[in-house]
Amino acid sequence: ANLNERSQLEGISLLEKLFHHLLMNTEEGHDALEYLLNRGFNESQLNQYKVGWALPGWETAAKLLEKKGFDLSLMEDAGLLIKRDDGSYFDRFKNRVMFPIEDSKGRTVGFSGRIISPEKNEPKYLNSPETPLFQKNSLLFNFHRARGAIRKEKFAVLFEGFADVIAASETVSNAVATMGTSLTKQHIQQIKRLTDTVVICYDGDHAGTEAAYKSSRELASNGMTVKVAKLPSGEDPDDYIQKFGAEKFRTDIIQQPLSLMAFKMWYLRSGKSLQSEDGRLSYINAVLPEISELSSAVEKELYLKQLSDDTGVSFSSLEEQMKSYSPVQKQIQVIPESVQPQKKSSILKA
Ligand code: CTP
Ligand code: MN
Ligand code: MN
Ligand code: MN
Ligand code: MN
Repeated sequence: ANLNERSQLEGISLLEKLFHHLLMNTEEGHDALEYLLNRGFNESQLNQYKVGWALPGWETAAKLLEKKGFDLSLMEDAGLLIKRDDGSYFDRFKNRVMFPIEDSKGRTVGFSGRIISPEKNEPKYLNSPETPLFQKNSLLFNFHRARGAIRKEKFAVLFEGFADVIAASETVSNAVATMGTSLTKQHIQQIKRLTDTVVICYDGDHAGTEAAYKSSRELASNGMTVKVAKLPSGEDPDDYIQKFGAEKFRTDIIQQPLSLMAFKMWYLRSGKSLQSEDGRLSYINAVLPEISELSSAVEKELYLKQLSDDTGVSFSSLEEQMKSYSPVQKQIQVIPESVQPQKKSSILKA
């Protein structure tokens, strides 16, 4: 790292210590600590993930960084401070619970700050801005901690939120989360170096379901084996753990994922009313091409049976219909004999 970058990392690290101290040891951090304990995090998790509290004032961080001799313009570039018109600096993060975000080397490169009481026009989470050190498109929360466990367990768990990673950490140590962005190629490549299997465990709401469908396709098209651990409707992993505990979460949710095909069928079914003929037909038309692409005959039969059960259409009709999607059939259909350029070439040869 060059000198500027090193200084920025030191500034971030100084604030991480300040925030953590304020949360754990001071009267000012009392309400925030109570909030975190009430939502089920324990002290050991707060220490391990160095969770902190940023005071409501405007210049707590700015003053400390100045006192310690940091170049404040560099700290602005690191996303810690914001410059006023008069050239002075104020804190980007205030009045928020602070979650340090570490890169794949375990260096803290930014923060995500959560409000603890709803305020008008305030986003729930405020992240560090994009900087050379903090790039959401390639950051995976918890990656450096989870690396060994992912190799050992031979799969990675992918959560939507870092709060879920922390909540599950007692029983699920092979977990990572994106930083509020969709899953990118860079994220996938990092996971792929450790394992070829991912269990997606996103929130059990509409946004989470849509995102899981999207991520499952991205992962599969990059050659990964995908499974989807579904949660009860309306719950996210952290909610579930608060209700039922981290042990039950591991055994009943993470260890019982749907296969990719079963998840796709559930997803495609959920948007359609199978009571109506239209609904059944569009469900069949969406699912059959997917089943036809499965390489295993046993799996094909399994999911065709399921499709038959779902729709009341006989297995044999579905099987017959599926032939129109099979890759071999397609090839034959693409170039019918009548338009193959045999005559032309023989004329050319002559
Ligand atoms: N997110 C964000 N900005 C927001 C809301 C969400 O960056 N205003 C990102 C965060 O990275 C968050 C993820 O999207 O971790 C998932 O969002 P959500 O499910 O709403 O948050 P939770 O992880 O459930 O957080 P909490 O339990 O604290 O509400
Ligand atoms: Mn919790
Ligand atoms: Mn969500
Ligand atoms: Mn959530
Ligand atoms: Mn949550």
